Amino acid sequence: MMPAYRIGLESISREYDRIECPLEGEVPPWLSGTLFRNGPGRFAVGDQDLTHWFDGLAMLRRFRIESGTVTVSNRFLRSTEYTHVTEKQQLRCDQFATSAPSSIVGRLRGLVDPELTDNASISIDRIGTDPVAITETPKAVGFDPETLETTETISPNDGVSTTGSLGHPHYDFDRETVVNMGVRFGRQNAYVLFERSAESAIRRPIASLPVDRPAYFHSFGLTDQFAILLESPLRLNPLSLLSGRSFIDSYSWDNDRKSNLVVVDRHAGEHIGRFPVTPCFVFHHVNAFEHGDEIVVDLIAFEDDSVIDSLSLGQLREGDIPPPGGDLRRYRLSVSTETVDEETLLSGPLEFPAVNYRQVSTRPYQHLYAATHSEGHQPESNHTTQPTGLLNALVKFDLDTGSKTLWSEPGVYPGEPVFVARNPPNTPGAADSPEDDGVVLSVALDTDAEQSVLVVLDAASFSELARAELPTVFPFGFHGQWYPSESRFHRSMP
Ligand SMILES: [Fe+2]
Repeated sequence: MMPAYRIGLESISREYDRIECPLEGEVPPWLSGTLFRNGPGRFAVGDQDLTHWFDGLAMLRRFRIESGTVTVSNRFLRSTEYTHVTEKQQLRCDQFATSAPSSIVGRLRGLVDPELTDNASISIDRIGTDPVAITETPKAVGFDPETLETTETISPNDGVSTTGSLGHPHYDFDRETVVNMGVRFGRQNAYVLFERSAESAIRRPIASLPVDRPAYFHSFGLTDQFAILLESPLRLNPLSLLSGRSFIDSYSWDNDRKSNLVVVDRHAGEHIGRFPVTPCFVFHHVNAFEHGDEIVVDLIAFEDDSVIDSLSLGQLREGDIPPPGGDLRRYRLSVSTETVDEETLLSGPLEFPAVNYRQVSTRPYQHLYAATHSEGHQPESNHTTQPTGLLNALVKFDLDTGSKTLWSEPGVYPGEPVFVARNPPNTPGAADSPEDDGVVLSVALDTDAEQSVLVVLDAASFSELARAELPTVFPFGFHGQWYPSESRFHRSMP
């Protein structure tokens, strides 16, 4: 039987412009700002079905919240890719798991000077106060914050040469810089760490680490002094890029390798070391900080890369998949003794981790919010069958006490939780207010009502305060940012 959430994996075409949403409950009057979210909106090109959830054409979502009301807009990003697809009915560039048509000559040329997609569907960033859609290439696409109309594709031409760029840049609040990593493919593959001023698209290289077979990676950890990358055994086979395989099919899991924590001193630009840990795969780091001699790195760890296949549209729509989530894992790395302790802080399935980023990024923290599966948190004796299908709950986890609080409702599938502080600290990292004083926003699919909703949870009690009914089903999305009204705060999320 097809899962009820399948309607969240179908293409939509209609675009809405600032529609006021009917509300249940009350949105706190202090909550004033804009939540931009990104994700796919269309899963076919001409008569070709796209392969993977990550392949869909980018569609922006905008939730404007003020004076207790919610308005919603959605608009496809008119990227170069989107325009080409609309005119030619075929892809222009390779996506994550679907290749564009091209000849072997084109592929050879592409190795030297690859044509990279600007189908920026992963998340949102800012250059100054202008929002941009971002993806795993260095190309960002600007859009109007009121109308969502696409402005321009920004292809940085600066001192940083990368083929890839992570959809999860970090923000250094002290230095007002955006720090990110990428991979450079070529005669000498490398991981590249770079940063830019919050006001500028021009990037500055910090460090470049040669690597024979780069790992696939999607996010990284940041402390005051270090950048940390979890390098999994999912490694690139460089010749596969010539074979017509898709981007991700050019990677394979190497059973002979461990995972490594790759540590870079981001001030000195020095590679500190590569520290082996148990093999695992990771999409999302949670937080990282320094504690005495140790670097503490928290992330969502999967046993292997099978989750990538689970997130293909074919398997997702069938629904007979393990819930696509991993465990909350903590590493304590001592650089001086070159030892790493590993500990699972919370068993999964967990994904889309979020914290009070402005207050706790690069610092010890207490509260984690994430998507999870309601049946993944029953006492062991209640496990009659293993849960299957998409994540259908949100969890708040207290790292100090080990307690967890679940929010779920039958037939409702929440996306990424976004924490919004009631009183964001003026000084980054200051604890003027309790860490969980605020709300958690999540766009969810209500399969019974056959519509998407924006739920507003009280972050302290994790109970629902309000939900806004959207005019249609928005396909399941990925990530976003909350920007408070009249504030220059640059980031709400990693
Ligand atoms: Fe992500």
